[in-house]
Amino acid sequence: AVRPVKAVRVLGQDFVLFRDAQGSYGLLDRDCPHRGADLAFGRNEGDGLRCPFHGWKFDTNGQCIETPGEPAGSLLCTRIRQRSYPLVERSGVLFGWFGPEEQTPPPFPALDCFNAPASHTFAFKGLWNCNWLQAFEVGIDPAHASYLHRFFNDASLDDSYGKQFRGASAGDVGGERWPMTRVMREFGQPLISFEAKPHGLQLTALRPMTDELTHVRVTNAVFPQTFVIPLSETMTITQMHVPVDDTQNYWFAFFTSFTTPVDKDAMRTPRLAAVTLPDYKPKSGRHNNWGFNPEEQQTRTYLGMGEDDINVHDQWACESMGAIQDRTREHLGTTDKVIMANRRMLQQAIDTV
Ligand code: FES
Ligand SMILES: [Fe+2]
Repeated sequence: AVRPVKAVRVLGQDFVLFRDAQGSYGLLDRDCPHRGADLAFGRNEGDGLRCPFHGWKFDTNGQCIETPGEPAGSLLCTRIRQRSYPLVERSGVLFGWFGPEEQTPPPFPALDCFNAPASHTFAFKGLWNCNWLQAFEVGIDPAHASYLHRFFNDASLDDSYGKQFRGASAGDVGGERWPMTRVMREFGQPLISFEAKPHGLQLTALRPMTDELTHVRVTNAVFPQTFVIPLSETMTITQMHVPVDDTQNYWFAFFTSFTTPVDKDAMRTPRLAAVTLPDYKPKSGRHNNWGFNPEEQQTRTYLGMGEDDINVHDQWACESMGAIQDRTREHLGTTDKVIMANRRMLQQAIDTV
């Protein structure tokens, strides 16, 4: 960027984010408190962001520090403060606090991806054109991995770094290391259960493989929009679906390694290739049928949208429902029991509010 100023839309509200010369970030309401012009076009002068309309200037706390057109000696700016939102930076992502202004933000959640050393985490994001809840509901749907992400052939385990389902599952099967793709493909009727936890729901999908061996996949759902799933034997994905507004959401994924440092270049390169910057819009989407290839669907994959980037599979599942799914038309089954439980929790939370 030429200047560190960015328009941000989250939870249906518009903000401007900027970084001053000291490296501090400010997140302010986007409309200038003078006469409402757009501060995302502001001049970043190092000690504040200046509105180009009449030159009013604001520091990272939103305090107005200059109103240059006012008469000399004017104290007007001392009485003007733009609403600003507390920010913390964790694992490569800025988090804002959007609660009531007079309240102190609650302690930051002590998830593994935020407590791990920086060397052991990697973050990425992408924009999806659908409501955040239908995106989140994919994360708490353990059955879909056996279908949506099915490959008819297993790739070599050697080339599986950073790829979901391509790595081996923990342990071996009859002396052989099975890739997750094979476990998912061969055992398509998981026994799903869940437990209420202080953070939300913990779900377990069991896939009995032999008399002695059961594949166990645990997902933690951190209410209301985060889930933690295994990526491989040694990494987890913590994924948050953050509403931009009702019809768009950003997924933020934090990869956490429990052994060696994360190879960030190996993680970043393929993911960057799938999006356009600066907004992290996926190159695949409704406009190009998410890259659907009927020949591939016949011969190589269940879905037909590529083998390298399974994120696009989930994107198709969420976006193809429509920006806001009409849930009066759906029919839930046994494998959807966690989705039902989560919707009940959500309904209760809405009632509480
Ligand atoms: S509208 Fe921003 S300074 Fe006047
Ligand atoms: Fe998925």
